[in-house]
Amino acid sequence: MTKLTIVAFDGTRHDLEVEPGSTVMENAVRNSVPGIEAECGGACACATCHVYVDDAWVAAAGQPSPMEEDMLDFAVDVRPNSRLSCQIKITPALDGLVVNVPERQG
Ligand code: FES
Repeated sequence: MTKLTIVAFDGTRHDLEVEPGSTVMENAVRNSVPGIEAECGGACACATCHVYVDDAWVAAAGQPSPMEEDMLDFAVDVRPNSRLSCQIKITPALDGLVVNVPERQG
């Protein structure tokens, strides 16, 4: 298990123990973190799982794929550290990852 913290827009921290191989989105939905709607179920086709990766984790989380980049165009208030949380797979290298949920999706 690795640690994942998802910070909701109101500042509430969701400190989770998660399985490597799962995605950030799956863990957000499983734990009812508000603001992650994930309408497409993780197919990189909706942008309602948009998150901001904490600055300290941007390099470790990696860059979005071209497909993810295209879908991020549909997200609101996109920033350099924006990612789609269904496209961030938990690995041991991401133990301790922190992401922030935007004010609103879509
Ligand atoms: S859940 Fe739809 S793009 Fe991530």
